Amino acid sequence: MTTDYDGYQHTVYARGRALLPEAAQAWTAAFQRWAPAGTAIVLDLGSGTGRFTPVLAEACKPCQVYGVEPSDRMRAIAERDATHPAVRYLAGSATDIPLPDGSCDLVLLFLVLQHVTDKPAAAAEIRRVLRPGGRLLIRSTFPDRMPVLRWHRYFPGAPAVERRMFPTLQETMDVFGLPLVALDTVRERFAPSLRAYAARLELRAISTFEHLSDAEIEAGFTALRADAAAETDPVPVEEDSDLLVLQHDPPGPDPAKQRPDWW
Ligand SMILES: C[S@@+](CC[C@H](N)C(=O)[O-])C[C@H]1O[C@@H](n2cnc3c(N)ncnc32)[C@H](O)[C@@H]1O
Repeated sequence: MTTDYDGYQHTVYARGRALLPEAAQAWTAAFQRWAPAGTAIVLDLGSGTGRFTPVLAEACKPCQVYGVEPSDRMRAIAERDATHPAVRYLAGSATDIPLPDGSCDLVLLFLVLQHVTDKPAAAAEIRRVLRPGGRLLIRSTFPDRMPVLRWHRYFPGAPAVERRMFPTLQETMDVFGLPLVALDTVRERFAPSLRAYAARLELRAISTFEHLSDAEIEAGFTALRADAAAETDPVPVEEDSDLLVLQHDPPGPDPAKQRPDWW
């Protein structure tokens, strides 16, 4: 299930997925929790319009952040609108990262893995650029822990699409073959009210919409608009997101050869 980010998505993504200050703060705290001590080089892989690239630069200061992104149009928006003195955007992909072996302390994959066709090749490439002890942060939707998202209530076919689209937690762990550090939960504010949430969703900056029928989309937005119009006391829309933390611990010497004589 691939999405052409050079097509429709790049025209709406930055507006439809803009980070609220509360969300930027929550993700900054998460990045700081899991970045290895002394992090100097960070890779935002599949950086899109640069939503998280300057956030990473601030969270891990002082550091250099590379945003690697295959879509020319998404990357051009990042280069124009998500600038930061410690950020550089590069053309590349999860299977072709233009950085040297063992150069990264931290790699972020934020809602990218579902778009990567050759996941074993991407995992090998990410292990190549991570230094020993470096960490990989994966923000994804794991179908075996499918969250009950607010917008899914209006588009009941969406969870089935996402179950097909995203690898499970176990599949993700297996493909990377890296030791687990943590499975963290980050609470993110998406909108200050249902009305604002609906306005964002109308932009359809979520690739799942591309796999729903026109009739389902129309019915969902009709119901959502009605609820948004009826909202009298605005309540912020917030959801929990999984953040998987893995660490690159390359195999050391064979433990059998390290055993003392009396073992
Ligand atoms: C949902 S967007 C996420 C963008 C950004 N990480 C964010 O959270 O705002 C998915 C991004 O992954 C990129 N992408 C698709 N296939 C990729 C691949 N094989 N390697 C790296 N990035 C890829 C897309 O071009 C798109 O920018």
